[in-house]
Amino acid sequence: MKALILCGGSGTRLRPLTYTRSKQLLPVANKPIVEYVLDHIQSVGIRKIGVIIAPGTQAEIKGYFNAHPQVKKKQIKISYILQREPLGLAHAVKIARNFLKEEPFLMYLGDNLLKEKLRDSFEEFKRDNLDALVFLKRVDNAGAFGVAVLDRQGRIVRLVEKPKIPPSNLALVGVYLFSAKIHKVIRTLRPSARGEFEITDAIQKLIEQKAKVRGKILKDWWLDTGKKDDILSANSTILDEYTQNKIEGRLDKKSKISGRVFIAKGATILNSTIRGPVVVGLRVKVRNAFIGPYTSIGDDSHIENSSIEHSVILKKVKIDGVARLEDSLIGENTQVIDSGKNHKALRLLVGDSAIIEV
Ligand code: DAU
Repeated sequence: MKALILCGGSGTRLRPLTYTRSKQLLPVANKPIVEYVLDHIQSVGIRKIGVIIAPGTQAEIKGYFNAHPQVKKKQIKISYILQREPLGLAHAVKIARNFLKEEPFLMYLGDNLLKEKLRDSFEEFKRDNLDALVFLKRVDNAGAFGVAVLDRQGRIVRLVEKPKIPPSNLALVGVYLFSAKIHKVIRTLRPSARGEFEITDAIQKLIEQKAKVRGKILKDWWLDTGKKDDILSANSTILDEYTQNKIEGRLDKKSKISGRVFIAKGATILNSTIRGPVVVGLRVKVRNAFIGPYTSIGDDSHIENSSIEHSVILKKVKIDGVARLEDSLIGENTQVIDSGKNHKALRLLVGDSAIIEV
């Protein structure tokens, strides 16, 4: 079986960050989102992966995959498929037709994270010769997603993309297993009201044609990282789940650490308090600072005379004199400098290479 990872799209909901970088490469617990996707795909033994890329971010995405150790060692084979315009998820499958051929495939949206192990569903899909297996999750805001309606036996009877009034609270997760039948229905699709060729509509057509479509309701967490708050909650969930207490950097006697904290090599912590779960990247410098729970600090950043909590800080960021920074997502190479007189909490979404003086 092959896999298709969707790393195209325009990431409009994460601007200004996505003006300069692709959202699939934003870090969660200091690791790009798409790396979790790749780990998950490899866990079911898939080695041939097609990656949908967009014109603006293709260099960055290719750079990431080409530098991946397993790609370099040829343990995974990546084929890039350029989608010139973000015309929808079904359009991405359409242009991947030559790569996918007649094989069944796993399609994974490059901004989705989920805990569920795929192995059992994967086996079930093959054993029962299904045409589509989709994952569903009960959510409070189903209108923001594709939504499924089930009958009393738990079979999917209808799917609808981002309905104003959701007919259920079951959202479609961005991970799908398809047989080659999907290509036939995709050929008959028309663009939706938002102008996209929707994969949700394609699966709905499979249902209407009485193809074998099955839904699996996830019990564990699922995160769609489309907006700032989604990135922050993904960061919190992953930190909570996986952070191990490990200090590879240097800590002076005046510094205190509590909870699960990972401090990478070359990092120095001076006269500071860190309360986990927190990850601190390579060569980071923290001085006279408090780093509170659910914070990730990217490599080579400097945090001084500041207090940070529940935030994602990318690489090479400088934060100085900020009495309270919380719920923030700060782009690479950015400086946030405060005179120290402002005692209100700052909540920021800042792109790359910005300078903010408060
Ligand atoms: O996250 C789950 C949801 O994903 C589902 O519930 C929806 O049914 C499904 O339509 C999709 O909705 P989104 O609006 O969240 O999709 P988004 O535009 O964010 O795109 C998802 C991923 O696919 C993202 O990594 C970008 C990529 N993409 C998107 C489009 C529209 C492409 O590669 N090409 C595209 O044309």
